[in-house]
Parts: sequence; structure tokens; C-alpha cells
Amino acid sequence: MFQDRSFLKIIDFTPAEVKYLVDFSIHLKDLKQRGIPHEYLKGQNIALLFEKTSTRTRAAFTVACNDLGAAPEYLGANDIQLGKKESVEDTAKVLGRMFDGIEFRGFKQEVAEGLAEHAGVPVWNGLTDAWHPTQMIADYMTIKEEFGKLEGLKLVYCGDGRNNVANSLMVAGAKLGVSVTIASPKELFPDEELVESVREIAKETGSVIEVTDDINSAVVDANILYTDVWVSMGEEDKFEERVKLLKPYQINKELTDRIEGDWILLHCLPAFHDTETQYGKMVEENWGLSEMEVTDEVFRSENARQFQQAENRMHSIKAIMAVTNGNLFIPRV
Ligand code: CP
Ligand code: NVA
Repeated sequence: MFQDRSFLKIIDFTPAEVKYLVDFSIHLKDLKQRGIPHEYLKGQNIALLFEKTSTRTRAAFTVACNDLGAAPEYLGANDIQLGKKESVEDTAKVLGRMFDGIEFRGFKQEVAEGLAEHAGVPVWNGLTDAWHPTQMIADYMTIKEEFGKLEGLKLVYCGDGRNNVANSLMVAGAKLGVSVTIASPKELFPDEELVESVREIAKETGSVIEVTDDINSAVVDANILYTDVWVSMGEEDKFEERVKLLKPYQINKELTDRIEGDWILLHCLPAFHDTETQYGKMVEENWGLSEMEVTDEVFRSENARQFQQAENRMHSIKAIMAVTNGNLFIPRV
């Protein structure tokens, strides 16, 4: 069951549990839309630790806390002693005595795991270099809203095949019966051991996990095209290498014209689809590319669902916090 558990990576949860989280998120969205209160964490205090920047995750945790009746407290990297003057263990012991739950976004997965080991309250991973588990519940929730089902669908992820989002999509897809193809240059293929372990999980659900550098063939029978930034937070010195490697993996009209059936675009966001950002301008100035992982045309097309997906971060984070800290009665998950 979920109560008192941390949410650190999708691998830690059974297929039934991941599916439950997707369905419960859809339920909570419905309650919110109908104005029905759901204060499952009434009176709680929740710490939001951010070593890296965030728009969606921070906003989603904050609003979710308020809707659940809990009080969120934002603790940024420069606001607290963690790392500089105080260990993960000591910080966890202190925060765990004051707060009822802790969200952590940062670099090392070990910090999230360490907090969870010592805090005595649930820790929710809001993104590390390795995993982005809360994002997954929103992503597969959006897919379920759009297609009415998950099993049997095919998601093709185009881009940096070894980042936190690509890794998490494979694991979550395998748990939920969604086939996932990672289309990326060989240099950015996901870790082979991880792929093998995900394929073991996929055997349980019938999902197929593939890794290829042939993006044109991969997308033909796709239901979902997914992409993410070419350079993740903490890798900002890699723009030149990534632009060169990933240009052929851009989602553009020429690529999407190859898709034979109905499809949607997902992107965890933020996205570089124009030059309206500092990095977007920098890439155009240095390498003459005005759009990176997805063109503005596809980003604004009728297939695009990334803003619905962004909203769903809030509903799904609410579900994750409620089931792990709300003493809910959940029959036989
Ligand atoms: N998708 C996502 O995690 O967005 P933020 O970095 O804005 O939180
Ligand atoms: N892979 C990206 C995801 C951002 C939500 C990063 O880690 O920066």
C-alpha cells in the first residue's frame, strides 16, 4: 500500500500501483473541476526543497498542497544549510520533525534517497539527474485522457535518450503496458543494463521497449511523440555537442507527416521551440538553429497536448501526496 511511502522513482511501484495513481489523478481533476473539496492533508506542513529551478513542479506542489488543506513552504538552494553546512542526514532529521512531507528537486538521486531514509516522513522526488517520477503520472494521465486507455499504445521519445525523462518514460511505460521507443543518436542511447531491466518489467504487461537511431521508421506507428530539452539542467556546457548530435532528432512537420494514425505531442516543458528565451537566442547566434527539439509549427499544432500535460502535473502530484500521506482507504491495489 501507499501510506507513509516515499515517491522516489517509478521502479519502486508495482504496475497496479502506478495505474492506480494515474486513475486517482483523473479522479482528483474531476473533483477540482466540480468544486468538490478534497482536503486529504488538512493541517499538514509540506517542505518544498529546490536545488534546481522549476516552474511547473513548484507551482504544482504549491497549489496541490493548498487544495489538499496543507501548508507548503518553499526552501530554495540558497536559503538552507543543506550541502554547504549540513549533511543530508541531519537536514532530513530536522525537517522530518517539523514537516509532514518533503518534496526534493536536485541533482543527485542519492540525496532524495538519503532524505527519505532519515526524514521519517514521505519524500517526493520532484526531479533528479536520474529520474522524474511525478512527471510520469501526469504524462500517462494525459495519454489516458486522450486515448481512453493505455495498454497497447506506442510512445516514441525523440532526443536525449539517456536523461531523467527518457529513463522514467521507459520504466513507467513498461509498468503500464505502453510500448516505448527511444529514438536517439547512438551516443545518447540509454544505459543497456537499464533497458534490459525495463524489458523484464515489460514482460509482465506486454509492452515493447525499443531503442533505435532510426527516428523516421520509429514514428510511423506512433500514438504519442514525446520530446524534452536537448540539454538538461546541470549540463549547460554541452549545447554544442547536443545541437550537432540531436538536430536530426527534432520533431518537425516532415517527421510528423510520416505518422500513419492519430497522434499527440507531449513535452514535459520548458521547450525550445523558438528564440524567445536566452538559450534559444544563444543557440541561434552560435549554431544558426532557431528551433531545437520541436518546431514552433508542431508545438502549436492541433496535435499538441503539452499544456494539458502541464496542468496535469498539479492533479497527479496531488494524487501522489494524498495516497502516501493522507491515510486514504484504498482497497486492494
Ligand atoms: N516539467 C517540469 O518539471 O517543469 P519545471 O522544470 O518547470 O518544474
Ligand atoms: N530533462 C530535463 C527535464 C526538465 C523538466 C532536465 O532535467 O532539465
